[in-house]
Amino acid sequence: MGNEAPIHRPVMAREVARFLAAAGTKLLLDATVGAGGHSLAFLGSDPSTRIVGIDRDPAMVARARERLLAFGDRATLEVSPYSGLEAVLDARGLACVDAALFDLGASSVHFDEPGRGFSFLAPGPLDMRYDPRGGPTAADLVNDTPVEDLAVLLLEHGDERDAGRIARAIAAERPIRDTLRLADVILRAVPRRGRIHPATRTFQALRIAVNGEFAEIEHGLPAALRRLRSGGLLLAISFHSGEDRLVKRILRREPLAEPLPECPLGPEADEVRENPRARSARLRVARRREEVR
Ligand SMILES: C[S@@+](CC[C@H](N)C(=O)[O-])C[C@H]1O[C@@H](n2cnc3c(N)ncnc32)[C@H](O)[C@@H]1O
Repeated sequence: MGNEAPIHRPVMAREVARFLAAAGTKLLLDATVGAGGHSLAFLGSDPSTRIVGIDRDPAMVARARERLLAFGDRATLEVSPYSGLEAVLDARGLACVDAALFDLGASSVHFDEPGRGFSFLAPGPLDMRYDPRGGPTAADLVNDTPVEDLAVLLLEHGDERDAGRIARAIAAERPIRDTLRLADVILRAVPRRGRIHPATRTFQALRIAVNGEFAEIEHGLPAALRRLRSGGLLLAISFHSGEDRLVKRILRREPLAEPLPECPLGPEADEVRENPRARSARLRVARRREEVR
């Protein structure tokens, strides 16, 4: 991969590969195929493996298609949200899979493309939709949400402790249509503490709200569990505490899920050194129970 253009590096790929191999996985549902990093590693590990890969973002599916071309019909790719995964499997006549992987949230490819509006460090329109074909944008939320509701959104989706102050600052400056202007409004409203940019949590919260990410996880994880064979594995990598709390709650609540006691796992120090984006990753794994009592 030495001379390839910069691309999203799959996070905790070693740990994922270890779990998939230990469970004898031949057919993987990659629910967040993204740039195809995890799928590429999995398909390269054993010629008898196959994947069904979905992603909500048509541009990511096109990218994965290109990168996984060499695997021919061992890779089936489709544009779909998690909530549509059962329909995708039904359309392919697949009753169940051996494992399902959710590498949650945005890809670094999203942050590296200013035109998508995910980054507060580069100029772009406040969009943030994974699927740009429809639905409200971040600008719609920023400009049309009543100030009290905006504060709740920032708190609940971003764990933002200055939610009220930021929401009031935004309301006073509306309309706000681009990323750098929003970052600047936040920077002027709240003090900079430590190394984290004050706009980090607001941008995260808007992205989660724009894409209905928590509702998608609520639908997607139980749907994947239903489509696992007995003893099959559900793997979920989260990148912030709100996401990890939700994954943990679902895996504890779902009667079909038996959470593995060694989880959550974080990345090894060498991975964090090579890919700082991996530092907040948490991998949770659950086994599909044989029987439901
Ligand atoms: C962290 S990236 C996955 C990277 C991938 N594992 C790789 O190694 O290249 C997460 C991907 O999930 C997609 N995504 C986010 N929410 C989704 C949803 N509800 N349904 C399907 N895909 C979603 C994003 O578009 C993004 O490409």
